Amino acid sequence: MLATLYGRALDARSPDPILGDTLSAETLDKINFDPTKTGLRPGDHYSVAMRAEFLDGWTREFLAGHPNAVVLHLGCGLDTRVWRVSPGPGVSWYDIDLPDVIKLRRELFGDRPGSTMIASSVTDPTWLDQVPRDRPVLMVAEGLVYYLTEADGHALLRRIAGGFRTGQMIFDGFSRLGVRLQKLNGAVTKAEATLHWGIDWPTELEAIDYRLKCRDAVGVFDASDFSTLTHRYQVLAAVGKTIPALSHLSTYYRLNF
Ligand SMILES: C[S@@+](CC[C@H](N)C(=O)[O-])C[C@H]1O[C@@H](n2cnc3c(N)ncnc32)[C@H](O)[C@@H]1O
Repeated sequence: MLATLYGRALDARSPDPILGDTLSAETLDKINFDPTKTGLRPGDHYSVAMRAEFLDGWTREFLAGHPNAVVLHLGCGLDTRVWRVSPGPGVSWYDIDLPDVIKLRRELFGDRPGSTMIASSVTDPTWLDQVPRDRPVLMVAEGLVYYLTEADGHALLRRIAGGFRTGQMIFDGFSRLGVRLQKLNGAVTKAEATLHWGIDWPTELEAIDYRLKCRDAVGVFDASDFSTLTHRYQVLAAVGKTIPALSHLSTYYRLNF
């Protein structure tokens, strides 16, 4: 979560920001830590900012059609999405992460009207009891699901699909190859984290629960405009798009139910 905070801060401080999240930059200044420990290499902030921007877009779209939605922002870390998206007064926003993370989040950000922090593992079924169930729900999980085991991930999606009348789930996932290549991911290895759950096909997600229908599965190289980035990134995107195994390495999913 520090790697993504740092990435958003670098983007905000760059001459031509993609996300322009100045609150992340201000927040980073409040934390005393060595950014080199995040494993982020020069230019990696592009992918952090592009992913956040893409999922912000889907979030805004859902909220435009559901002004009374409940948002479950799972594995929120120190993400400032609620400020970027700025939901209307009818929306109830929940930021959920592990207790240590929520403690730090509270210290750094304090309370915000319309949003509530929940300190819990997303795999614990009881946290959902704190959330109203009679409204459309949006689950947003950025940089989270591959840290769960497949069984825990399936149980989470099934619980949310079964717990609300209607809603949407948006998240990024790694393919099984992406999970196998995790040692090449500096942010993951530096955090001493382990990736578990790989997703190869949207049909695997639909098979978790009969209510889930995949509306979109967009490869990261197709999701954003790489043409304004450095030459290295343009080449990476061009290669990534043409080699099927790479184009599916990381995908944004949008499921309706
Ligand atoms: C890569 S960070 C992403 C943070 C944030 N979404 C962002 O994009 O900046 C992954 C986050 O998932 C959280 N996380 C991992 N496993 C979790 C679990 N079982 N329950 C809740 N949060 C979890 C971590 O604490 C961390 O904040």
